[in-house]
Amino acid sequence: MGRFENKVVLVTGGNRNTGLDIVEKFAREGAKVFMCGSSAESTAKGAGILASRGLKGITSQPCDISDASQVAALFDTIEREAGRLDILVNNAANQGIGHGGPLEMSPSAFHEVFNTNVIGGFQVTQAACTRFFMKQETRGVVVFLSSNTAMRAIRNRTAYCSSKGAINSLVRSLALDLGPLGIRVNCCAPGYIYTERWETLDPAKAARRRLNCPLRHEAKGADIANVVAFLASGDSGNMTGEIVTCDAGCSCQHMPEDVDV
Ligand SMILES: NC(=O)c1ccc[n+]([C@@H]2O[C@H](COP(=O)([O-])OP(=O)(O)OC[C@H]3O[C@@H](n4cnc5c(N)ncnc54)[C@H](OP(=O)(O)O)[C@@H]3O)[C@@H](O)[C@H]2O)c1
Repeated sequence: MGRFENKVVLVTGGNRNTGLDIVEKFAREGAKVFMCGSSAESTAKGAGILASRGLKGITSQPCDISDASQVAALFDTIEREAGRLDILVNNAANQGIGHGGPLEMSPSAFHEVFNTNVIGGFQVTQAACTRFFMKQETRGVVVFLSSNTAMRAIRNRTAYCSSKGAINSLVRSLALDLGPLGIRVNCCAPGYIYTERWETLDPAKAARRRLNCPLRHEAKGADIANVVAFLASGDSGNMTGEIVTCDAGCSCQHMPEDVDV
């Protein structure tokens, strides 16, 4: 019997890259999984990839998580098809790439990143709690995806890094208020993850990134899915408000080896 047998899971941004591996992890361990991408096209593409991996019974529905009415429609579907929710994985993210530095980026671009990463994650969590967790005897678990860039910034990603810092604070704040209600809220903070973006990366740059990592390799999506599954499972039953870093040791070093002085 799988660890998540009879559990119902929602993974936002489950249609590509790391999200796909998180969906796969829960599905292979017995859960009924719902997933969304931001558009009909991207969600359908993800559903096709999951089907090609031999996974069945996954419900996909497009949902821009920054839009409250689309969030409500997604929860209507979960209600209709499963009647409950046990685990929410807030994985969807706007990467905030290409807006330039903090002196050039428009406030509207900054808003867009926060609307998905912070407001979106908050309103999906609120819907999960009010529509399902608080009505169920066995409440529910929330896992956010943050980033090690919440603690150590990367260049020209002002909105993204700040949004991930806000997520870390949101996780602690939600954990504090929801803990007494029986709802746990934790977070995985990845470092480099191999995604489709690495496929067009200059090999010298990929090698240099790996040199940044004490373990000398980036995470695979499955590595992150393992941490998310741990935080969603009873194995972490005494943990809430935690930010669990999974970054091949990047955060423990002051400088990478080739620039050490
Ligand atoms: N990749 C890394 O190296 C890395 C490092 C640290 C942390 N992380 C974090 O780990 C998580 C997964 O990363 P990733 O690189 O796999 O992500 P990704 O490739 O950038 O994919 C982002 C996902 O979020 C969805 N999304 C974006 N805006 C949305 C919205 N408004 N509503 C609903 N869905 C939306 C996207 O859907 P569409 O396909 O429709 O756009 C996509 O499925 C993210 O939270 C990310 O910040 C990643």
